[in-house]
Amino acid sequence: MADRQPFDVVVIGGGPGGYVAAIRAAQLGFATACIDDWTREGGKPALGGTCTNVGCIPSKALLQSSENYALAGHAFAEHGIDIDGLSIDVAKMLARKNKVVGANNDGIAYLFRKNKVTFVHGRGTFAGKDGDRWTIDIGAPAATTISARNVIIATGSAPRALPGAAYDNVRVLDNAGALAIPDVPKRLGVVGAGVIGLEMGSVWRRLGSEVTILEALPTFLGAADEAVAKEALKQFTKQGLAIKLGVTITGVKTGTDAVTVDYKDASGNAQTATFDRLIVSIGRVPFTNGLGAAKVGLKLDGRGFVEVDAECRTNLPNVYAIGDVVRGPMLAHKAEDEGIAVAERIAGQHGHVDFNTIPWVIYTSPEIAWVGMTEQQLRADGVAFRSGSFPFSANGRARALGDTVGFVKIVADAHTDRILGMHAIGPWVSELIAEGVVAMEFGASSEDIARIVHAHPTLSEATREAALAVDKRTLNF
Ligand code: FAD
Ligand code: NAI
Repeated sequence: MADRQPFDVVVIGGGPGGYVAAIRAAQLGFATACIDDWTREGGKPALGGTCTNVGCIPSKALLQSSENYALAGHAFAEHGIDIDGLSIDVAKMLARKNKVVGANNDGIAYLFRKNKVTFVHGRGTFAGKDGDRWTIDIGAPAATTISARNVIIATGSAPRALPGAAYDNVRVLDNAGALAIPDVPKRLGVVGAGVIGLEMGSVWRRLGSEVTILEALPTFLGAADEAVAKEALKQFTKQGLAIKLGVTITGVKTGTDAVTVDYKDASGNAQTATFDRLIVSIGRVPFTNGLGAAKVGLKLDGRGFVEVDAECRTNLPNVYAIGDVVRGPMLAHKAEDEGIAVAERIAGQHGHVDFNTIPWVIYTSPEIAWVGMTEQQLRADGVAFRSGSFPFSANGRARALGDTVGFVKIVADAHTDRILGMHAIGPWVSELIAEGVVAMEFGASSEDIARIVHAHPTLSEATREAALAVDKRTLNF
């Protein structure tokens, strides 16, 4: 490490924002270090942050395992595949998840070596300034000090706790606990019907838990297209998720074997529910503990986010911040793209992140995905639009898959036909949404999509048909 000191760029945090920023900075020729404190069993580093260790990757691993189990139990029979004595080995499922996580941790360490990024294991704390260089103290195990002209803060986020219900990760679980439940709970409570609540609730419901989700807001998935949210609520309810909207939690009591939740339902009536485990997923808060923000005068906003301008510049010269620790959606791909853009700006280039085309995906079954504006947002803004939908029940590939729930919707400007949004619920829409993102980035019209050849039979034909539906000329519906 010493021969590369002082560094041109130091990134604090090795999550998707930080590690990608470090790789991009190194590609641009900067002597780059990345500091990260995540540690796995045995004291080894575990690069990848929340996303890799207790977020995107392990949740998708468990969603896949539980989906396979659910398909084997409920869907295989119609294919003529009979399975006797179907069972789930939770310990094995969790071990596989850990293996998937480990492969991603190791993959990032490999990418650092390949790109000549210096990795430093430990917590980075701003120590001060030496000329035009920032000095950063690093705690154990590295226990060293490094300096750099440019610093990128990518320290991420932590789960928000429910007042009066501290996480113990035995009965009251945060995202890390929800991803490591050692047995299938008979009664699983979830507070918050957001992304984590729906994904984790789905995992354990598929494995046999009775799942009750308690959501404070009176509307379900308010950020999604209304028709998508309506279909999602219908499907999740049909699958057995008991989703209670408009609730106010009034108390949580944790016992040795169970946890009791007192709440008021939407009508204001007092209710009590007892669960074996309770997942609390009510959003996340920016994480800056131990960063030494106050010491160097790094400005945080009223909610604890590092304050940045549109280009991720903080109030300190040559100090940038990206990802969950700054404003904007808490998504891995948003963090990554901010990291790339900042590295390019440091190099004098014009990195840019288009917040209007950041896709959202919820990896439930059916999957939910969207990009751009919803119809309700456009109505509120007084924008004239046309929209077209196409159901998967009319798509040949979906029928062959045996997965015909849901639809794709394209929303386009009524005057110019420019695509303003794509909203989908159904099979593999997590993959289909990329077409909507590309179309919007290139300023495509719905007619452009309608005129593009899509392979047959594919789910992507539903996107083309939705584009045709904008002009009321679907061919297969
Ligand atoms: P993080 O990933 O939080 O990484 C920050 C890193 O910095 C951590 O390793 C932390 O230990 C380290 N750190 C903090 N302070 C210091 C310090 N002072 N010194 C050294 N190291 C430090 N997003 C998606 O886009 N798709 C998904 O499917 C998805 N699924 C999710 C599922 C769950 C259960 C959760 C909780 C989140 C999910 N997310 C998903 C969100 C995603 O994980 C975050 O948006 C993303 O991880 C943010 O990246 P980041 O780099 O900003 O921060
Ligand atoms: P979230 O913001 O998605 O959902 C939180 C939900 O909890 C909201 O519906 C909110 O109204 C509700 N809530 C808040 N306080 C409450 C209370 N006191 N009682 C009952 N309900 C309450 O947050 P979540 O699910 O914790 O996830 C955090 C973030 O992680 C997400 O915003 C998302 O950015 C990211 N994530 C992304 C995923 C993806 O991209 N597929 C998957 C999982 C997480």
